[in-house]
Amino acid sequence: MKVIVVKDYNEMSAVATDIMYDVISNKPDCVLGLATGSTPEGMYANLVDLYRAGKLDFSKVSSVNLDEYYPISPDNDQSYRYFMNTHLFDHINIDKAKTHVPDGMATDADAACKAHEDTIDALGGMDIQVLGIGQNGHIGFNEPCDEPVPFTHQEQLTESTIKANARFFESIDDVPTRALTMGIQSILKARKIIILASGKSKAEAIKATLKDEPTPRCPASLLYAHPDVTVICDEDAYSLCK
Ligand code: PGA
Repeated sequence: MKVIVVKDYNEMSAVATDIMYDVISNKPDCVLGLATGSTPEGMYANLVDLYRAGKLDFSKVSSVNLDEYYPISPDNDQSYRYFMNTHLFDHINIDKAKTHVPDGMATDADAACKAHEDTIDALGGMDIQVLGIGQNGHIGFNEPCDEPVPFTHQEQLTESTIKANARFFESIDDVPTRALTMGIQSILKARKIIILASGKSKAEAIKATLKDEPTPRCPASLLYAHPDVTVICDEDAYSLCK
């Protein structure tokens, strides 16, 4: 894995934006693999700015998102569909019909997972996949485990993830306990992967990813097998690697 250590969140967002800019400019009909959470918010704001400045065109771009809570309605302001609309899609000229988030309202979760994986395949895989990292090393909602499920699947969230995400909800009891998520093998279908991390709360996960033996107990470490992964982390997130 290539590692870029930057000063802070803003620099992390700027470096990630530059990489996204190159992918979109070089291939106007690219497929973006997108993530939600606090980490990529700055990068999305920068992409919106570039669009408004006339420097990026999303009209031919498609996207697939990593994950979605389950069950959840797209109108729920904590759903990842809502996040993507409000942070990015509503502000750029992407065709929303070409944006794909796992269906949090599906009556059949397994069928929704298969449909998401089929979409990834029909699009020919992602040109770039953006990832945050959980405090426990999860990517998407692939939680630490002994045997990861390879492709898009339903996942039971761990206590650590529920606690980390409680900040977005009125009470911890409101945090959904399940999610639909791409699997590690789905993520590996991307031709390029960037992992973003900022802050001391991510330092353990970054150390386990970069310095320790790959293990499904730290799902991000399983991406070592991919030939083009760049970790962009700030000094705080990198602090245990020195
Ligand atoms: P965060 O979440 O960006 O809100 O820290 C990342 C993750 O849990 O994958």
